Amino acid sequence: MSGNGNGAYRSRAWFDTPELYGWLRRAAFKAEGFGETAYEGRPIIGICNSWSELTHCNAHLRQVAESVKRGVWQAGGFPLEFPVMSLGEYNMRPTTMLFRNLMSMDVEESITANPLDGVVLLGGCDKTTPALLMGAASSDIPAILVTGGPQLKGNWRGEELGSCTDCRRYQTELRAERITEEDWAELQNCIVRSPGHCMVMGTASSMAAIGEALGMALPHNAAIPAVDSRRQQLAEASGRQIVQLVADQVRPSHILTPQAFDNAIRTLHAIGGSTNAIIHLMALAGRVGIDLDLGRFDDLSRTTPFLLDLKPSGRFLMEDFYYAGGLPALLKTMAPLLSLDALTVTGQSLGANLDTAQCYNSDLIRSLDAPLHDEGGLAVLHGSLVPGGALIKQTAASPELLTHRGRAVVFEDHDDMEQRIDDPNLDVNPEDVLIMRNAGPLGGPGMPEWGFLPLPKKLLQQGVRDMVRISDARMSGTAFGTVVVHATPESATGGPLAAVQNGDMIELDVPGRRLDLLVEPQEIARRLAEYSHPAPHYRRGYGWLFAQHVLQADQGCDFDFLRKVGA
Ligand code: FES
Ligand code: MG
Repeated sequence: MSGNGNGAYRSRAWFDTPELYGWLRRAAFKAEGFGETAYEGRPIIGICNSWSELTHCNAHLRQVAESVKRGVWQAGGFPLEFPVMSLGEYNMRPTTMLFRNLMSMDVEESITANPLDGVVLLGGCDKTTPALLMGAASSDIPAILVTGGPQLKGNWRGEELGSCTDCRRYQTELRAERITEEDWAELQNCIVRSPGHCMVMGTASSMAAIGEALGMALPHNAAIPAVDSRRQQLAEASGRQIVQLVADQVRPSHILTPQAFDNAIRTLHAIGGSTNAIIHLMALAGRVGIDLDLGRFDDLSRTTPFLLDLKPSGRFLMEDFYYAGGLPALLKTMAPLLSLDALTVTGQSLGANLDTAQCYNSDLIRSLDAPLHDEGGLAVLHGSLVPGGALIKQTAASPELLTHRGRAVVFEDHDDMEQRIDDPNLDVNPEDVLIMRNAGPLGGPGMPEWGFLPLPKKLLQQGVRDMVRISDARMSGTAFGTVVVHATPESATGGPLAAVQNGDMIELDVPGRRLDLLVEPQEIARRLAEYSHPAPHYRRGYGWLFAQHVLQADQGCDFDFLRKVGA
């Protein structure tokens, strides 16, 4: 359906009906105080809001929605805000990742079931942005993403702090008894000090950057701080622009092309973004019928330098990134690596959007000639321990551990790890490899962010600050260290991780992209033949549905039935 002209809007099918329902729907708008001039002849723009007081990162999105509405009215549209499920990292148990697909279904069905011609997607916290994009891609009506923006920088006694990279760093110092309980309590007031999402290059910032690099958000959306008035101006501009996209019938399927995904993957590598973003990008690609595999991420990693000096891989924070020129400045810097003719929600190409972009801090946004690292932040590993692949964020790892051979110290699951990690009698040395299983999509369940295993207290007290850690879990985008995650296939499905025993030798070779269990293949097969699968976590409800249909990490953990048919 074309959007030009009153009769052609998708929403007219709800109102121009001869029977009672069209009349009733108008009566219902009147009940909300909207006379006919509010919507006659106008496209109806949904504002799909993941606001929630249970999601602190998204708690300011009602104000952002007001700015979007102003823009929609200015451009001649009729805005209607509606709630969708919200996924707050700090509060939801067992993990938000269990619910990303559920939220995406809420988004898709709320859009398609209602009289909407276009939609503005409001999110911010880690899983809310990919869930919004996945749902909007499946519904495929014109859509623009507006994220809530990063928090202001933390500050403790003059030291700038990143949420929540520095929470983890100082928790380690507390466990090592280098700071006091009083210091730790004071830090709590200093680190998350404004609305917005975590302001390191964690998952939320990565997904905001990816949304912009894909062309689904207006330029600068990724980095404007949540409390900066320019965030509200951008929201207003997005409200105006969605009306134009409806008129021009620019849909997500026009924007989410293979070239756009390559641009997003290169951006992810250049920013040293979150390992989680790989899962979300694969799931999003599946929604539009693009088969993205881990090999594509590794190919582009080898030819994309790491350019952005932000925590957890580097020094600065998102607020600094905005002042340095934001994502447009980074994209312009890496323009020779991008498909500049990719269409975006501005109605113009990515390249045209970058015309006026400028870098104001070449320490923070490095040039292609002087990168922080010649390769991208994320490396894909294969080998006898992970035949389906695994990930490491090499830019956040200790360089001396990137090639390492060590003895396995195995934890059966997260509870086992918590109970024994600080046991003074645990047989563990600094050069050992910590292994945790039963933390994948089925085993966790929901693949929790447990991959950043704490170091044994007795080693911390000896001054050890990093060890090789391997699991089938995910890792928070704000975490750091030599941490291998997303081991696939996961142990709960009988992947080789299930076969590892204490004392086995493990070999990590990141430059060679290998991760091997140095045990004879026949012995691995013998152990796996004896393996008994864990009992299911759920026997009913959504958790049961999840277990029936979730795909493994190398396919984005989407549900099999949500991928585009034919993909
Ligand atoms: Fe929401 Fe970090 S807790 S983005
Ligand atoms: Mg996170």
